[in-house]
Amino acid sequence: MSGAQRLDWLSRPAEALHGDVVVPGDKSVSHRSMMLSAIAEGTSHIRGFLEGEDTRATAAVLAQLGVSIEAPSAGERIVHGVGLHGLRASSQPLDCGNAGTGMRLLAGLLAGQCFDSVLVGDESLSKRPMRRITDPLTRMGACIDTQAGLPPLRVRGGRPLHGIRYELPVASAQVKSALLLAGLYADGCTEVIEPHPTRDYTERMLAAFGWPIVFSPGHAKLAGGHRLHATSVNVPADFSSAAFFLVAASILPGSVLRLPAVGLNPRRTGLFEALRLMGADIRIENQGESGGEAVGDLIVRHAPLHGIELPEALVPDMIDEFPALFIAAAVASGRTVVRGAAELRVKESDRIATMANGLRALGVRIEETPDGAIIDGGSIHGGTVDSHGDHRIAMSFAVAGLVARDAVTIRDCANVATSFPGFLALANRCGFVLS
Ligand code: S3P
Repeated sequence: MSGAQRLDWLSRPAEALHGDVVVPGDKSVSHRSMMLSAIAEGTSHIRGFLEGEDTRATAAVLAQLGVSIEAPSAGERIVHGVGLHGLRASSQPLDCGNAGTGMRLLAGLLAGQCFDSVLVGDESLSKRPMRRITDPLTRMGACIDTQAGLPPLRVRGGRPLHGIRYELPVASAQVKSALLLAGLYADGCTEVIEPHPTRDYTERMLAAFGWPIVFSPGHAKLAGGHRLHATSVNVPADFSSAAFFLVAASILPGSVLRLPAVGLNPRRTGLFEALRLMGADIRIENQGESGGEAVGDLIVRHAPLHGIELPEALVPDMIDEFPALFIAAAVASGRTVVRGAAELRVKESDRIATMANGLRALGVRIEETPDGAIIDGGSIHGGTVDSHGDHRIAMSFAVAGLVARDAVTIRDCANVATSFPGFLALANRCGFVLS
């Protein structure tokens, strides 16, 4: 599974990037499409499913719980839903791999079953905080044991759940989604209020599967006792995967890239706004809708970037894009200041520390703060950085190598396969010099 072998990359300075880059399916949407299809009644058809280790782990967990899933072609899944109460116990632990989304959402789903389950993860996931879901799920009547707040999670079945009204202390789509999934099995209403709106894929997809739900930015409410009806899901291309190419083409002179049919849910596109504030030249063409989600082609051209004070309101809308933003800031003229992003410390790695250490190793002036960083842009040297097995850090430093003075060696890149299988080939096809 993920992280089993150590894999290092070498990213060399490049000329310019050109062409069309078709990035894989959205990770968040893929996880949710698999989970809802599994507990729906009837057969659902998913297209554009991310063939990454994270989302395949979620599919494997559901198969272990008795769901029959066909994969007729890459990115396609036919899921024979077992209905809300049709999952069956697994005698083996359920391995979520590297995926925080998989583990947290499945914990909510499994809290409502009549059997016990154990959720485990890899080394990185085993260090990620779980009280943020177990505390509110416990208030709903669930019983989940942790190891001092960390995985493995032992989810006890057969506990009657009741709806609660919960104000999230931190903006988190994973926490919101875990509660909504538990809420499907609860008596009464489950209501979630967020301090800042987060991605609303769970809400939208529940509605698409026929579950009555009321939601607006920052708020969602549903009641238990309904059914999910199988449907077809078209997964858009992942904005978070597109992000590396948006930064790459922006910082490498002479570059022009087109990224077709990327998901443009406004709760995901904060980096687009941030890069534009920094002077980037990114346009959207062919805007439309696919599977109920906004999509469009992104055309990005090189443009000189300047540092900014990042508006804090953008942080939740670009929570996965900070490693890429830090690279843009490192080559922009002037200073970039990021605040209000303490959540970065509990992602696949401590992304503030991992990026600061890596950028410093490449000669960039960066000061870590508890909830962000201050980056003085300039030039990037060659050198060696450690991704700490964090997929987004590895891809971000591959982007840095494009404009570095010498080659950049990136340690521990195998986990790129969790979210972006084929990144290396795709990157080289448009002009990266990455091996
Ligand atoms: C996700 C939510 C975010 C994000 C993660 C995917 C989701 O996590 O970082 O990559 O699919 O709900 P948080 O909810 O912890 O912010």
